[in-house]
Amino acid sequence: MASGEWHMEKRSSIRNESFDRVDSEGSLECGCLSIIVLGASGDLAKKKTFPALYNLYHQGFLPPSEVRIFGYARSKMTDDDLKDRIRGYLVPSKNATPELLEDVSTFLRLIKYVSGSYDAEEGFQLLDEEITKYEREQNTHEGVSRRLFYLALPPSVYPSVCRMIRLHCMNKSKTGGWTRIVVEKPFGRDLQSAEQLSSQIGELFDESQIYRIDHYLGKELVQNLLVMRFANRFFVPLWNRDNIDNVQIVFREDFGTEGRGGYFDQYGIIRDIIQNHLLQVLCLVAMEKPVSLKPEHIRDEKVKVLQAVDQINDEEVVLGQYEGYKDDPTVPNNSNTPTFATVILRINNERWEGVPFILKAGKALNSRKAEIRIQFKEVPGDIFRCKKQGRNEFVMRLQPSEALYMKLTVKQPGLEMSTVQSELDLSYRQRYQGVVIPEAYERLILDTVRGDQQHFVRRDELKAAWEIFTPLLHRIDDGHLKSIPYKPGTRGPAEADTLLEKAGYVQTHGYIWVPPTL
Ligand code: NDP
Ligand code: BG6
Repeated sequence: MASGEWHMEKRSSIRNESFDRVDSEGSLECGCLSIIVLGASGDLAKKKTFPALYNLYHQGFLPPSEVRIFGYARSKMTDDDLKDRIRGYLVPSKNATPELLEDVSTFLRLIKYVSGSYDAEEGFQLLDEEITKYEREQNTHEGVSRRLFYLALPPSVYPSVCRMIRLHCMNKSKTGGWTRIVVEKPFGRDLQSAEQLSSQIGELFDESQIYRIDHYLGKELVQNLLVMRFANRFFVPLWNRDNIDNVQIVFREDFGTEGRGGYFDQYGIIRDIIQNHLLQVLCLVAMEKPVSLKPEHIRDEKVKVLQAVDQINDEEVVLGQYEGYKDDPTVPNNSNTPTFATVILRINNERWEGVPFILKAGKALNSRKAEIRIQFKEVPGDIFRCKKQGRNEFVMRLQPSEALYMKLTVKQPGLEMSTVQSELDLSYRQRYQGVVIPEAYERLILDTVRGDQQHFVRRDELKAAWEIFTPLLHRIDDGHLKSIPYKPGTRGPAEADTLLEKAGYVQTHGYIWVPPTL
């Protein structure tokens, strides 16, 4: 069967299934669906939101008979201008077969652009007219409409945009349907501003309508964390302070702020990566088993972990800024904004007391990767004299080359009784050949359509996350903590490795995991 036919068949079968489905809020998962991308002219919309929507469409999750996509922004553009802007991002040029390009064109026909400002009524009234017109044209299920607003916008305009949506663009059908709002990070700059933003939005929408996206929660290996931890007997007795010496959660990029210097300088690496992406991962590593997989049960456990985190000690923080960062004309010459940070968090509870959680993130380093590294304590009574070879580690490589691997000491094959470091390796590319791992944004947009908030940040979770980092961030903003310069293309400041060692991490020498090639 040609792949086009397969997709058509798949689309229609998914669509038929969807007519019987009820989402987790109890709303019918059918009727026309309008997805409105606000900030459609922007970087995120072009690089992530529209490509994710295309991929969902391509896989049959957004059937053209039910879905329309509206772009909204201030820029004066025609529908075709918007389509030309995003077209090149939807399919990598190396994969662009005539069949796929035809598919892209069909997808683009679903898009309509509306121009208007973020705080004036006319634009939103016009947007509502366009959505309503489309809804009226659809006579599938009487009156049921679903409206998903994706705010790919700077947070400064969230309150006015939410007010305008509330006033003019809500789903009006009496028989069902819904209105949902997806908001992007950063949610504020500190506890106070985040709380203010939360209350402004909270006055307009119920918590069940607000989807605070953290795209790390949509990554395949992050989603695997709960399964690894709670579906495998191996880990159950080991996952605690008696066996685990330290935990590292690492994010590294081998490029700098590249054209985003102006944005980045107001936030820095802690607000950009650590307070949200890495802290969300920490919650999943450290939380207790939830009562069930219901979103509220999972989020309850995450909040408990955050609430048990101690105040950060300045002695357990290293900040860095790469040389050349200030060459960006939008970055002030005296900027102290960290582009690198290592921060140790300590969780004051029965499971984790004494175990450092080392969160590391940096830009312009010597490699690009994100991983979780659980380092175990040494085996008491070292009869093989193999302690120096290294400790057991369980590593979840989130990206690139997704993998789970366990570093073990084994007998070196041969006549001698000697030991060597090796690994049990579950490399996804090798094990799941031909399986395409979905982009985080695809999964999360689909969750929003289905009303599943499990992988979104709840308001109390956000508050607890800001409570942990706000005092430290204020000390950095006040200049009490300084960023150490480091050369681009290196590991960052040497002081960070010293801190790691002081925290108890023991580096394995003479062994390196190499992702298998096919
Ligand atoms: P952009 O700076 O590209 O802004 C998006 C759109 O918002 C612009 O096209 C512009 O549209 C409008 N806009 C920009 N500045 C202002 C302003 N000061 N006041 C009102 N409108 C403005 O942002 P991104 O697309 O990069 O990001 C959008 C959101 O997503 C942000 O919250 C960002 O932090 C977050 N994010 C971005 C990521 C990325 O990779 N880019 C990754 C993760 C999160 P117009 O002028 O046409 O109205
Ligand atoms: C974004 C940050 O949230 O995540 C960027 O604002 C960063 O600075 C990006 O580059 C990294 O995302 P990923 O999915 O490529 O690891």
